[in-house]
Amino acid sequence: MPKITIVDHHGNEHAIEAQSGESVMQLAIANGIDGIVAECGGNCACATCHVYVDEAFLASIPPPLDHEEDMLGFTAAERRPGSRLSCQIVLSNEMDGLIVSIPDTQV
Ligand code: FES
Repeated sequence: MPKITIVDHHGNEHAIEAQSGESVMQLAIANGIDGIVAECGGNCACATCHVYVDEAFLASIPPPLDHEEDMLGFTAAERRPGSRLSCQIVLSNEMDGLIVSIPDTQV
């Protein structure tokens, strides 16, 4: 099981054991972490599950597909090199140690 660290928008770090196949969005919501809205329920249609992936891990996760890339143009917080939609990051054992941060705002 991959262990993931989610840094909430207050700066608190949450180290969580995830199930492979679960998205970062699902993991955050299931663990009651503030700051992920996920209005569309994970359908890559709202951009309210925006996170910043720690740049050290960007190469170890699959890059965004076209529809995620398009939706990243609609995030409320500024887009950065590590910007991703957390519903589109499906966790696997290879992502053990991943760190993502939640921006200040999603809407
Ligand atoms: S939950 Fe809507 S884009 Fe991720």
